[in-house]
Order: sequence, then structure tokens, then C-alpha cells
Amino acid sequence: MSATLVRRVGELTTNDPTLGDETAMGRLCDAAFVVEEGRVVWVGSDADAPDADTVIDAEHAAVIPGFVDSHTHLVFAGERSDEFEARMQGLHYDGGGITRTVSATRAASESDLVSGTARRVQQLHDGGVTTLEIKSGYELTTDGEVRQLQVAAHFSNDVTWLGAHVVPDEFRHDRHAYLELVTGPMLDACAHHAQWADVFCDRGAFSVDEARHVLTRAKSLGLGLRLHANQLAHGEAIALAVELDAASVDHVTYVEDQDIDLLAAASTVATLLPGAEFSTRSPYSPARRFLDAGVTVALATDCNPGSSYVTSMSFVIALAVRDMMMSPDEALWSATKGGAQALRRDDVGHLGFGARGDFVILDAPRAAHVAYRPGSNLAARVERADR
Ligand code: NIG
Ligand code: FE
Repeated sequence: MSATLVRRVGELTTNDPTLGDETAMGRLCDAAFVVEEGRVVWVGSDADAPDADTVIDAEHAAVIPGFVDSHTHLVFAGERSDEFEARMQGLHYDGGGITRTVSATRAASESDLVSGTARRVQQLHDGGVTTLEIKSGYELTTDGEVRQLQVAAHFSNDVTWLGAHVVPDEFRHDRHAYLELVTGPMLDACAHHAQWADVFCDRGAFSVDEARHVLTRAKSLGLGLRLHANQLAHGEAIALAVELDAASVDHVTYVEDQDIDLLAAASTVATLLPGAEFSTRSPYSPARRFLDAGVTVALATDCNPGSSYVTSMSFVIALAVRDMMMSPDEALWSATKGGAQALRRDDVGHLGFGARGDFVILDAPRAAHVAYRPGSNLAARVERADR
């Protein structure tokens, strides 16, 4: 069996509260850890480190768990920088451009979709992402959504069907027929290509009742649930997510106290996407209110060509710290363990015993540098255990 020892770690963040300083960050100084057969098997002081076949010398740098980006739309063709320019001149984002990406994606070859997705996955990985979720939702036909899910599956074990993203143009005058397609033949064809189902439940997209219908049917076929909610306006989508025990409710920009109370008492994670708020010049989600109420918070890129063409988790962390009043540790936790919880995974997002050996050696002595030095990629070495 081959074992790798990572030694001379100046500051090790494990996110395992049974280790190190016994906080949520599970932090150790002058530490070492061993990965064997892709799993963490030993964590401790560098002075006590055992022998191993391979040794990585961290040279007193900080090491963190690989980022878990739990919300992306990476399978698309084309780009919408003209919409970004218009927004920076004052235009509001309303999701209307989604159908432009649907047209471009439908017209793209599968090999172009694979290579475009691969480039974006590589950018995320180079910045420290070792686990990511990928959604469909840019073809909105049965065959096209299956194709998107198949492309996504090249890169992720957490693939999400988002057939109910918006009503496509050809169904503009008959949304009922589109819902029949989505909940019938499309979902039947897509269910075994996905682990998750998502709905864009918001003003101009799908109503709470429509989302309940789609998600209930998806759940009956064995899919886990997640929800885009309250990005554009307040609605009852958070209550729906909690009612259906969704793993995550995402965006949650417009929230009221009762939404926060519901989430605090539930296992549904609030996934915040500050890249979308930055790129659409929208108000940020009230992260502090969620955290202070005890809600589990994840941070993700929402990488997509419309609202958030962001392929850097470090940038997301910097926004969360600077503009959402999260501490650097809270943001780091939310971008790692929080993301794992949003995917209901306990094998990633931490470096406790049994975790996958997914870690990042930073070009920095402390993890706080990720937020402190925005705009720099501090991920000096990104390791992802084979899976
Ligand atoms: O998460 N809100 C819905 N979906 C994406 C945006 C998609 C787009 O504009 O292309 C989001 O922001
Ligand atoms: Fe999204």
C-alpha cells in the first residue's frame, strides 16, 4: 500500500473538531498528515510523523482541505459579456439571458461542450477545487438535457438535472406543456444520469407550486433535491426546500426572519453565491443573519455565463469576507465543509481520519491569506485523491 506523508505544515486546517485546537476548523500548527490509498489515515504533530513511501515537504506553508464547489453550471456554449456590460451601466439581471445560452448550447457539438467544460473545470481545480457539482439546464429538451448530464458526468459525481431552469422560447405560450414534458418524459430520461434535481424557483422562472410538482416527482425517482431560490425576489421557496428536505437552497438573497428560523431548525444548507451578486450588482445575501442564527452556510461559485462567470473559489471567499461580513475562517469552512454538507457528503471538505486525501498547499503561512490577498491564486499545489 502506498502512503504519502505531508510534513512541515505550518498551519493545518482539518475542519475536524476532534483534532488540533478542537474548534470547527480543527487546526494544528507544525503538523503532518498521512494519506494512504487516497484516504487520510494519520494527523498529528510533525515531530511525531511516521515514515511513508513518499514525502511532500510543505515548507511551513498552510494546508487546507480542497474546496468543494457545490453549485456550478459548467456545461454551456457561448458567452454573455454584453449583458455584463449592460448591467454595469445600470441594467438589472432578471434571468432573461438564459435562453441565449440555451440557443448557443443547443447549437454546440458534444466535443465542444466537453472541451469548454474541461477548461472551466481545470481553472477551478488550479484554484484549489477538488470536488464540484455540475448542473444541466441549458438545453431544455429531453435529449439535450441527457447530453448535458452525460457531459457533466465526465467531471463530477454530483450531477444535477435542472430541466426546470426556465420555460424555453418554443413553450413560451404553453408553460403547462413544458411542465408536462419536464415532469414526464424528460425526467424519466434524465433521472438515471443525475444524483440531484434542482428548480429555479423565482420571479420570472417557476412558481413554488410548479417547483413542488417537479421536485416531488424527482424525489419519487430517487433524486436528491436542491433549489435556486429568492435570487431575484422574496418568495416561499425556502419553506418549500425545508418541507421537501432539500440538501441545499441556493442564492437566498432575499430572505425574511421566518426563512432563517426555518433553515436554522432544518438540515437544509443555505448556499450563498456572492459571485452572482457581484456580477449582477445585486445586494449580497445576509450571511451574518444566517450564521448568527445557526444556519449551515456553504459558499460556491455558481459558475455560469450569465450571472457569475467565476471560476475562483478564492474570489468567492474574498467577497464573502469583505462584503458579507464572514470571518476568513467562516468563509473557508463554508467553501469546504459547508459545500460538502450541501452535497450531503462526509468524505470531502475536511481532512479528518477517513477523509479523501484532497488538499491544497497554499503559498502562504496562514489560510487567512486566501481572503487577505484577493486576486492572487495561492493554491501552490492541489492534490486530489484518485476516485
Ligand atoms: O444561478 N438563476 C438561475 N440560474 C443561474 C443563472 C443562469 C444564467 O443567467 O445563465 C444562476 O444565477
Ligand atoms: Fe445557479
